Amino acid sequence: MGGNHVTAAIVSATIEDPTVRAVRTAVLEEMSWYPSRPVMAENATAGQLLADPAATRERVGQRGLALWHLPEPLGVAEFIDLASVFGEPEAETESSLMDRVQRRVILDLKPDSMEELTEHNQPFTTAPLTFHIEGSRRPRGTSPTYLLFQCLEPPARDRGNQTVLRSIDNILAALTARTTAVLSETVLTPQSTDATVIYRTGDRLRLNFRDPAPIPFQWVSAYDRDDVIGALTELLVCVYAKDAAIGIPWRRGLLTIVDNHRWLHARTRGQAGSRHLQRIRVRAERRP
Ligand SMILES: [Fe+2]
Repeated sequence: MGGNHVTAAIVSATIEDPTVRAVRTAVLEEMSWYPSRPVMAENATAGQLLADPAATRERVGQRGLALWHLPEPLGVAEFIDLASVFGEPEAETESSLMDRVQRRVILDLKPDSMEELTEHNQPFTTAPLTFHIEGSRRPRGTSPTYLLFQCLEPPARDRGNQTVLRSIDNILAALTARTTAVLSETVLTPQSTDATVIYRTGDRLRLNFRDPAPIPFQWVSAYDRDDVIGALTELLVCVYAKDAAIGIPWRRGLLTIVDNHRWLHARTRGQAGSRHLQRIRVRAERRP
């Protein structure tokens, strides 16, 4: 161990471990859809979800994830009303996204980008998205609490293009004490965040993580380079445990609400064709 967070130089490395590459590829290139089990979608109407906000929050609070089949997708105003049940809908401020945003907070997700693939337009392409929490690069305590997604037009079943989730509690429980210690003293992308990869809020451990592949990891740490590479390797193998991935069975009218601090999300590789989701990010001061 050596150095400290303030003065330590930023270390940059790609995790070259072949096992990591193999498990990441196996998860993200899978065309068959992952099952949503043990989470099951329930039938509901917008009226029901809005009429009893406490029950709606409670449903999400149980697993940090709830799926509802609505007869039709929510309208713009209804979708924002539902987001407001969970907290403050967050404005999309990234200037390159503005033609994809409705009422400041609804982001339209379609794979229609004609530009060369960049990190920025990746959500709007058919390229896979690696596992991450939303806002992992923000200062500690400022990432969105919830993500709401609804499907207007589903991708073709079993042709990839699926949102997949991985339980953070499950990951944290599986890591060795050594890896937990290292990641509790390591900050990824320290240029923009001060949150360690593993941190504690109250009596709960949390994970602040985005797999940057194919771009290298960048970090500052109280631990040496090899210690951090070892810990990130163990973390990645656990994150990409294929049997533990849960898939969202998109169909028109499916609404998914995710606790961003209890689930990592990713997207498998897609194929050209229709797919239209909408997303709202929410900040909640108090967690239900
Ligand atoms: Fe995301």
